[in-house]
Amino acid sequence: PRRIVLDCDPGHDDAVAIILALGDPAIELLGITTVGGNQTVDKVTRNAQSVLVMCGREDVPVHAGASRPLLRAVEVAEDIHGESGLDGVDLPEPTVPVAPGHGVQFIIDTVLAAEPGTVTLVATGPLTNLALAARLEPRIVERVREVVIMGGGYHEGNWTAVAEFNIWVDPEAAAIVVDEAWPLTMVGLDLTHQALATAEVEDRIAALDTDLSRFFVGLMAFFRQTYREHQGFPDPPVHDACAVAYLIDPDVVATRPAPLAVELRGEHTTGMTVADFRRPAPGDCRHRVATKLDHARFWELVTRAIGRLSGG
Ligand code: BDR
Ligand code: CA
Repeated sequence: PRRIVLDCDPGHDDAVAIILALGDPAIELLGITTVGGNQTVDKVTRNAQSVLVMCGREDVPVHAGASRPLLRAVEVAEDIHGESGLDGVDLPEPTVPVAPGHGVQFIIDTVLAAEPGTVTLVATGPLTNLALAARLEPRIVERVREVVIMGGGYHEGNWTAVAEFNIWVDPEAAAIVVDEAWPLTMVGLDLTHQALATAEVEDRIAALDTDLSRFFVGLMAFFRQTYREHQGFPDPPVHDACAVAYLIDPDVVATRPAPLAVELRGEHTTGMTVADFRRPAPGDCRHRVATKLDHARFWELVTRAIGRLSGG
């Protein structure tokens, strides 16, 4: 299986990313690190633990990471994810403590302890932890297998006209991560806006009729409400799970190579991810961008993961 560290800020769609990573045999989740994003780091850390309780997998360590962006002020997405960061469901109390040691140190230690080229870093929140890890221990850059981020978009924004939330919150960190020498795939809004949790999808998952399937349905009900109200979507896009799906089956998430950069100084474009499609990408291009989602296959993966974790 693909061995991953998931750096996240749960977050409704981060919760689905965790569920997919735990419920699919193609992934081995080595640990979760958290970052201030959708809510404060304390809240999202707690949320990650609650999701693990729901999955019966409290053996997976949760390490708290950065509480604020490198340069900018904390900005949370309370309008979208609520006061807890995971509103709409009862969050079970964790029975194990948060793992000792900073999330950034966990990322470094995990990559250095493993065979070179075997650990993949998946980030579904602001990129503060990954940026700090690359600066604190530059050797990880050539040792990771690849980095997959949910963030950005080459034609779409959500927090501003052109910036996506995870990049907008900490653009300097995003620039560090995108500019490092590791191979990086950007699963941005162009792709994730195709991952809508439609009524049919929810019905199929509801039919599993387990605590975890009801948890999913409760999360999506809240997420749908806020996405309708604040983003004008009919159904919520489950962004973060797409980054995990890409690693399970690259046919589910089509990608193409394109040089990437993060805008840091634009008057109207700060936090924009700029992909250069002008000509075929050079042979040594380290960046790929996600383009097209196989919606049916994606939701099949999520549904099966929830089924497996429900003992099915
Ligand atoms: C991203 O922002 C967060 O609100 C979601 O969890 C996702 O990671 C989408 O822009
Ligand atoms: Ca997220």
